[in-house]
Amino acid sequence: MTEELTPIDRAKYASAHCAADFVQDGMRVGLGTGSTAAWLVRRLGARVRQEGLRILAVPTSTRTAQLAREVGINVVSLDEARWLDLTIDGADEFDAELTLIKGGGGALLQEKIVATASDQMIVITDAAKEVKTLGAFPLPVEVIPFGWQATQALVEEVLSSLDVMGRQSSLRMNGAQPFMTDEGNHILDLALGRIGNPRQLSLVLNQIPGVVENGLFIDIADQVVIGHADGTCELRDLTSGTPETSQRRVDLGEASNIFSDI
Ligand code: A5P
Repeated sequence: MTEELTPIDRAKYASAHCAADFVQDGMRVGLGTGSTAAWLVRRLGARVRQEGLRILAVPTSTRTAQLAREVGINVVSLDEARWLDLTIDGADEFDAELTLIKGGGGALLQEKIVATASDQMIVITDAAKEVKTLGAFPLPVEVIPFGWQATQALVEEVLSSLDVMGRQSSLRMNGAQPFMTDEGNHILDLALGRIGNPRQLSLVLNQIPGVVENGLFIDIADQVVIGHADGTCELRDLTSGTPETSQRRVDLGEASNIFSDI
């Protein structure tokens, strides 16, 4: 079965399975969105069914909510949970300080709200997403549909005075229609190439009327679990001040060949 998974899928599976062990009985857990998060949700569902693990889960998208319910996880809203012990989510890029680009799946707004309302955030990822400087992955920016082209023009204008390499942006499409987020907004993808000062960029973008939120996650993630195709995963913990690294291996034989691309 596992030979049908690509190396990247095996790495994502390993990362998600390692991170699932951080979830303890009684926890309120934020569930991310994306293919890596889908492995996590399936693993937690298995733990609920097999070990009787009791958790309250807050999904970060309708896609994740649907999958979580399907696998038997108790889903509640963030307002019902109020505050979370832990959020586990994927990322599109991460650097040494665990600054992230997220939103490749279009769920960045709920993802940021949920992660920020958590005591702890663990990022689950494969090694290919680690970068020295963020920006090769286009930065998603959620904008309200009203006047989105005026918003886009302002976004491109402010980029000219910021430490980025490019300033082209494009409206994300879903076939012939603009992509719609769970909140009914659009996404602008910013081809920046290199983001020299993520903190400044994030602040400036969020001041533009029409911008709802951007996909930079700064000072939110505490730990990253990097999966590898051979089933090993590496945990990097930034919470102690000096990064600590540990390694373990998961059994890839448990992986099914169902691609969980939510
Ligand atoms: C969803 O909006 C994103 O933030 C995802 O977390 C990110 O795109 C990672 O996705 P994959 O796990 O599918 O690579």
